Amino acid sequence: MAKKNNSVKHVWQTNPAIINAIISICEINGITCIWEIGTFQGESSKAFKEAGLKVITSDIEAHLKEADRIEGIEYLIGNSPDIAAKVAEFAKGEKTAVFIDGDHSYEGCSIDFKAAEIAGLNGLVFFHDAYHDDLLGVNQFINEQTKNPHYYTLILPTLDNTGLGILKRK
Ligand SMILES: C[S@@+](CC[C@H](N)C(=O)[O-])C[C@H]1O[C@@H](n2cnc3c(N)ncnc32)[C@H](O)[C@@H]1O
Repeated sequence: MAKKNNSVKHVWQTNPAIINAIISICEINGITCIWEIGTFQGESSKAFKEAGLKVITSDIEAHLKEADRIEGIEYLIGNSPDIAAKVAEFAKGEKTAVFIDGDHSYEGCSIDFKAAEIAGLNGLVFFHDAYHDDLLGVNQFINEQTKNPHYYTLILPTLDNTGLGILKRK
């Protein structure tokens, strides 16, 4: 699996090295499918697909033109609680991880994480910008989860000073 991708087109796009780390962590956890919350221009979802994962990606806005959509990726528009049931349907039978890269607020993380739990997709959850200086809500949410007895919590340091948060259900 783990085909590497190294191109960056926009500052909002997740660093490809972080995407490759997510792909590797999925691989060692037997993950076959990923739900990305925050599609933006679709670069990370494309890399996940190229690595062999089944991909569902959602956003509250359609940044990506229909013509630029990749065949085989499920693109959804809406807030995570409103589309969680649809995601669960697409992910049926797959071991699925969730990559939370949406609005980056504490409330947004809580809502997205809850939606993943409701959809039954809370086994392995990644958070982009886990210690970004300007997006402290993500860090607050992850730190709070260190007290949650149901999850292992980790923040992987990254050279770009954004950090990758990982919650794994015990
Ligand atoms: C940093 S960009 C995502 C980058 C993308 N994951 C990548 O790696 O290329 C954040 C995206 O989240 C979307 N967004 C903001 N709030 C959201 C929410 N509540 N639910 C889903 N997406 C949201 C924005 O429209 C934007 O496209």
